[in-house]
Amino acid sequence: MIIKSTIDRIMEATDIVEVIGEFVQLKKRGANYVGLSPFANERTPSFTVSPAKGIFKDFSTGKGGSAVTFLMELEKFSYPEALKWLAKKYGIEVEETVDAPENREEEQRRESLMIVTGFASKFFHESLLDSDEGKNIGLSYFKERGFTNETIKKFELGYSPDQWEAFTGTAIREGYKEQFLVESGLSVKRDNGALYDRYRGRVMFPIHSFTGRVIAFGGRTLKKDKNVPKYVNSPESEIYHKSNVLYGLYFAKKAIRDEDNCYLVEGYADVLSVHQAGIENVVASSGTSLTSEQIRLISRFTQNITILYDGDAAGIKASLRGLDMILEAGLNVKVVSFPDGHDPDSYVRLVGTSAFKKHIEENKKDFILYKANLLLKDAGNDPIKKAEIIREIVESIAKIPDSIKASVFIKECSYLLQIDERSLLSELNKMRQAKAKKDGQQQQQSSRFNEPPPDEPNFFDEPEVNVAKDESIQEKEIIRLLLLYGNKMIDWDGIANTYIGPFIIAELSDVTFEHPDCKQFMEIYRQEVENGVLPDDTYFIHHKDKGIVDITVNLLSTKYILSENWYEMHKIMVHDETANMKATILGAIFHLKKYKVGKILENLRTELQKADTEADQEILLNQYIRMKKVEKSISDFLGSVIIK
Ligand code: UTP
Ligand code: MN
Repeated sequence: MIIKSTIDRIMEATDIVEVIGEFVQLKKRGANYVGLSPFANERTPSFTVSPAKGIFKDFSTGKGGSAVTFLMELEKFSYPEALKWLAKKYGIEVEETVDAPENREEEQRRESLMIVTGFASKFFHESLLDSDEGKNIGLSYFKERGFTNETIKKFELGYSPDQWEAFTGTAIREGYKEQFLVESGLSVKRDNGALYDRYRGRVMFPIHSFTGRVIAFGGRTLKKDKNVPKYVNSPESEIYHKSNVLYGLYFAKKAIRDEDNCYLVEGYADVLSVHQAGIENVVASSGTSLTSEQIRLISRFTQNITILYDGDAAGIKASLRGLDMILEAGLNVKVVSFPDGHDPDSYVRLVGTSAFKKHIEENKKDFILYKANLLLKDAGNDPIKKAEIIREIVESIAKIPDSIKASVFIKECSYLLQIDERSLLSELNKMRQAKAKKDGQQQQQSSRFNEPPPDEPNFFDEPEVNVAKDESIQEKEIIRLLLLYGNKMIDWDGIANTYIGPFIIAELSDVTFEHPDCKQFMEIYRQEVENGVLPDDTYFIHHKDKGIVDITVNLLSTKYILSENWYEMHKIMVHDETANMKATILGAIFHLKKYKVGKILENLRTELQKADTEADQEILLNQYIRMKKVEKSISDFLGSVIIK
């Protein structure tokens, strides 16, 4: 367990904009920051961060919380993991009470898997640098390819000994469980149950999650034998989903944001060489064609992708279709190719950093024009082929959401293809209309379930909350008031020298909350008050229970949750509830009490209907009459509070 004072220091040091800014491109808007939700695929930013409150709120998914919650949601960190990540970022030493080694077993599965992959990465790295075999075979190979010690260290490159059980044996001896060795793909199980190493005699490229933890490996053979697969990669696992990982992103993300551009290459070696040459905004899709998740990952940092292809034209054509996806996501795509036989890795090593950059600047082409050119060369003078090409190009252009950008491309393509601009435009419009129709149908279907998010996120400024059907609004209103005013002094006639929080708690000591999070919140608040502490909003924002954080963030992002009518009726100006604190606080307390009494009355009515004996009926009826009186006195009281 991380000790309390360490947690406090971490919370103090944490700047939520800075933390979230590592993952999401944020723009300042008023007092808040907005960006594209990292949890959903969206084009209009609905993800909002409030530095003043230290919280974020994501419109499209409803997620919200502190910097810690954010890391837990996005990286699937556990609470202590998220804290440690922040501690590392802010250079805070973490003090922990000692955990027994068997706690490793209790760690969640994902954590266990990452511990195993982390251990493996260290094992391979040490075997590369320290063992004779590693040095002679692995390290000399990397050196030959021109990788510096710095690169080898930074990317934690490694070597797997050419034996059947070098890694597995060590891991088992160190106490790692078979289950996780197999699930992470590091070990393979034989029919007789024995394990052996998946990677043998290969140089190892660890694949990092974008918070920098090793989640998988690619192992390259050093043999020339055509029957041996060149790369052996980790299988899919709970921590490794190939389709949403980009090799090198962890090391590139800062540069991608700074340069506002991302270079996309094909292989591990390309990433390493280009990065080593000082061009750090480079990632690889690792041999597979680009997925929409990967595009979304990139679009968190920049809207500009430059694809660096090797000279092989067949490969280029195969991936052209996949690139339409990038256009669809609204990103700008440029393409650079290299002289025949060269890939980014070999080319940058041949010509050096500045000539490499110069080549990119001089040869980068907009993807659409690049594609048009390439296809055109193929078609020659065949009119049918040419018509097909035109269709295909216009199809790509139709994917671009920004219509101004699209019409620029139409102009350029009309020149390139020697076709009247108007006929291209009419083709474009036809496709757009068809698409709009299709989208409209989908939209209609989905909007029956989901309200589309508002164009302008205004969650922190002008909340719109639909509360009509919320059963627990009275309970939530109490929580909201505790959060906002709990540690303020009461200054009403007749009551003084006490704080609002303890006052509310005492007034409601006879009321049981139903909503589980509200109930827990009240319990925590009550306990803290008993300990002589007045917990404030930060205390709850940073609470380790997710339910507590969620409800806190939701309520803090809301000005008032009881219906405006209720406040109006009671003459409380909704835009300044602090003007009459007595009415606000007592109103909420007694509104809740009235609601509870109403529920009791309802129950009594049902029981009365079911009661068989007259005696039972009489008892129930008496209870009912008493409760009715309570209800009346509450109503009277509510009325009088307001007049003041
Ligand atoms: P390359 O064959 O271009 O590999 O495949 P490379 O990384 O540039 O290797 P060198 O330069 O020959 O050393 C590009 C990427 O495709 C994936 C790997 O991610 C590789 O980096 N790949 C390739 C595989 O997953 N399996 C394979 O058998 C081959
Ligand atoms: Mn290569």
